[in-house]
Amino acid sequence: MYRILEHTMINLVLFGPPGSGKGTQAQKIIEKYGLVHISTGDLFRYEMSHDTPLGQQAKAYIAKGELVPDSVTIGMLRNKVEAHPDAKGFIFDGFPRTIAQAEALDALLLEKGTAVMALIALQVHDQEIVKRIKLRGATSGRTDDSDEEIIRNRISVYKNETSPVFDYYASKGKSHSVNGIGSIDEIFGRLVDVIDQTAVAARA
Ligand code: C5P
Ligand code: MG
Repeated sequence: MYRILEHTMINLVLFGPPGSGKGTQAQKIIEKYGLVHISTGDLFRYEMSHDTPLGQQAKAYIAKGELVPDSVTIGMLRNKVEAHPDAKGFIFDGFPRTIAQAEALDALLLEKGTAVMALIALQVHDQEIVKRIKLRGATSGRTDDSDEEIIRNRISVYKNETSPVFDYYASKGKSHSVNGIGSIDEIFGRLVDVIDQTAVAARA
């Protein structure tokens, strides 16, 4: 029963360290596949800019490059998913960031009769990440993009708390990696190859 429904949706986790190009590539993927883009980082920034209770809760963590507590992030994610009952699929960008978030995502999607189809990690080395984030910080207005110490902390949080999520989905045969260095279109081509291959395999 679940299997049939599961395969009618394309749910992707776009994975990788901060500054690896997830937001840029997610934008191109939703255009091609008609998916709903959910960036938890963007959601937090929206809440902060409107000074909502959720934004106030998240602010101190984000300023330091730490993770917002799982319960807060998971609740926000659930609301966003449930706001799109007719979605053809979702692209999760910057979520899940912890194993607890991955388990919560799986439970939520199972409740809806669906599942994560694939996790795709953009591979970019640290030196390039720091360079890209500083460049983005010059125009993004994001304070967490401007301070090298905070950037380094975000990278270490990624390595310690987030990278186990790759292994979690790898143990389910769902994790893939692509080279995140190159032009936007080159990287997009690599992502499309993985998405099309896994979508075909899921329908077989
Ligand atoms: O995904 P992005 O890099 O835009 O996230 C910016 C910040 O938002 C992170 O450094 C972190 O402080 C917070 N965040 C979080 N949990 C998530 C996504 C983002 O704590 N799942
Ligand atoms: Mg982003």
